[in-house]
Amino acid sequence: MESVTDQTAYLADTPDGIARAAHWLRTGELVAFATETVYGLGADATNAIAVAGIFAAKGRPRFNPLICHFATADAAFTHCLPDHRARILADAFWPGPLTLVLARHPASPVASITAAGLDSLAVRVPDHPVARALLAATDRPIAAPSANRSGRISPTRPEHVRAELDGRIAAVLQSGPTMVGLESTVLDLTGPARLLRPGSISRHAIEALIGPVALMSAAAGTPEAPLRGPGLLASHYAPTLPVRLHAHSVAPHEALLGFGTNLPPARLLHNLSERGDLLEAAANLFDLLRRLDHEATCQGLTAIAVSPIPTHEIGLAINDRLTRAAAPR
Ligand code: TXA
Ligand code: MG
Repeated sequence: MESVTDQTAYLADTPDGIARAAHWLRTGELVAFATETVYGLGADATNAIAVAGIFAAKGRPRFNPLICHFATADAAFTHCLPDHRARILADAFWPGPLTLVLARHPASPVASITAAGLDSLAVRVPDHPVARALLAATDRPIAAPSANRSGRISPTRPEHVRAELDGRIAAVLQSGPTMVGLESTVLDLTGPARLLRPGSISRHAIEALIGPVALMSAAAGTPEAPLRGPGLLASHYAPTLPVRLHAHSVAPHEALLGFGTNLPPARLLHNLSERGDLLEAAANLFDLLRRLDHEATCQGLTAIAVSPIPTHEIGLAINDRLTRAAAPR
């Protein structure tokens, strides 16, 4: 295998590319790869130096807990203490975009930096053939936050990863655009079930299987109720330009991120879903936000207006990400 320089290798997601990526992960290098949600920046979760490299490559200001990815539920559950709720949800939703925060198994070799020193562990089994083949080939927990610079928009295409991390990581395993487009639902099961981050697997779908799920406290982020992770910071997923939500009109200095039909006139428009389909809008969100940010800046526009988006089903997760994109920085 070739050695790693400051050049990032762009690998095809063929068996050979996957084998090379797995080798790099096993030797402590950083490799970006597709999951069904967004591209992740992977490192061997049992190698503290490799995991520290994730924070350095992302420019993440502090060590926030990362999700460990596994090829199977059995592999995931050897590192934590799943209760009956975790097993029911794993049966129903894995592989898939659900992350479970569980008590960590005392014998787990996952490095403590991976979970930011917490005694819990976030685990997930992604539903993407390349991710699963890579995880099976590495045969160890892979820590992977979204493969973007800290605070920026999550990548849903390999070219987004290149724009964010070229020259900072060993390799990018290049697959096509991701299907879901929003990060996984994060559910805390270390006590009464609590939704830490909304995603495409809804609170409703989870409650149907395990009963009531609390929402993260509205006061989270205050000193009394500190935030538990980066996806929970108020300002996140931020484009360069300021974002204005629930826009029914567009000012001359604004570009429009639209949804549905009958949109107000705008000098620059990208539509998340002309037919008003929330799943399509979720899959397009980060790519179109990124493009609009770039194109608007090139055209001398100075802000992004966003059409109202319904808050049911995955619309809740879309609004969650947009609210963070629009938060004061
Ligand atoms: O879809 C996804 O989940 C993507 C792909 C790559 O798998 N990953 C992702 O990772 O979004 P990241 O690092 O951007 O977000 C991790 C989320 C954060 O909100 C963090 O607070 C939460 O998981 N988290 C991780 N470990 C935790 C723990 N032990 N306790 C509470 N929350 C935790
Ligand atoms: Mg992220």
